[in-house]
Amino acid sequence: LHVAVLMGGWANERPVSLMSGEGVAEALEQRGHRVTRIDMDRQVAARIAEAAPDVVFNALHGVPGEDGTVQGMLDLMGVPYTHSGLATSVIAIDKQLTKQALVPHGIPMPGGRIVHSEELYQHDPLPRPYVLKPVNEGSSVGVAIVTDEGNYGNPIARDTAGPWQEFSELLAEPFIKGREMTTAVVDFADGPRALAVTELKPKSGFYDFDAKYTDGMTDHICPAEIPGHIEQLCLEIALKAHKVLGCRGCSRTDFRWDDEQGEDGLFVLETNTQPGMTPLSLVPEQGRFAGMEYADTVEAIIAAAMR
Ligand code: DAL
Ligand code: MG
Repeated sequence: LHVAVLMGGWANERPVSLMSGEGVAEALEQRGHRVTRIDMDRQVAARIAEAAPDVVFNALHGVPGEDGTVQGMLDLMGVPYTHSGLATSVIAIDKQLTKQALVPHGIPMPGGRIVHSEELYQHDPLPRPYVLKPVNEGSSVGVAIVTDEGNYGNPIARDTAGPWQEFSELLAEPFIKGREMTTAVVDFADGPRALAVTELKPKSGFYDFDAKYTDGMTDHICPAEIPGHIEQLCLEIALKAHKVLGCRGCSRTDFRWDDEQGEDGLFVLETNTQPGMTPLSLVPEQGRFAGMEYADTVEAIIAAAMR
């Protein structure tokens, strides 16, 4: 197969995408496929047309590789590509639109509201502790947990430096104390399957960008040491989210679990349609748990694009 691996781009997650793309490209070469690496710039359509691959492996993260823009371009070009299509990508990149799609299907997600960053200097949008995050970033880019307890309504001091300053609109959600978990779903010839539940235990702070991509900063416990019924619920919910959103190839649904609340404490944060494929990433790790080598997972994702 001739595979064009699309990576890089200009999103904040560019470095992550370059790691994902290189991992995928090397695995495909080891399996004897012909690979063209494409670092996305504004000439991307011409580069793909020139390469004329059998399939594009989309290893982009963030905007515009994960939000439907690149998907629409590839649809128009008539080139098969991995991962979710246009409509799914438009919804899943937006954490608020994702809630609107999933909550009516009985998938538990924290309530939240969109705030303008200027509003944060006027009053707290939610009782503390709460989480502020850009609606359409990944890898925890721009995420802040506002924890200073105090009277609801206290504004963030104007001179407090925080990631919210980079973004005009943010999603404010109640912070769910407890544990962080994730479940990958991969499409096989006989249908999608949830692979496993991994618990992420950062050695300090929360599971932020550095904890995600620095070897040794987070313990990955797979399978998670959680009660069987919670594990089952995570697998079922991740599979349902994959189906409701119409994901293709693979997806990864992220959870928080307040273990003092039992089943009622389990919440989905989001479903990722372009989950990371770096050496520390969770989809290939859960693939290994399910008996697949890294390259097997990559080939399963490609096979789904070509069915
Ligand atoms: N946004 C990163 C790449 C992930 O979901 O794994
Ligand atoms: Mg994400």
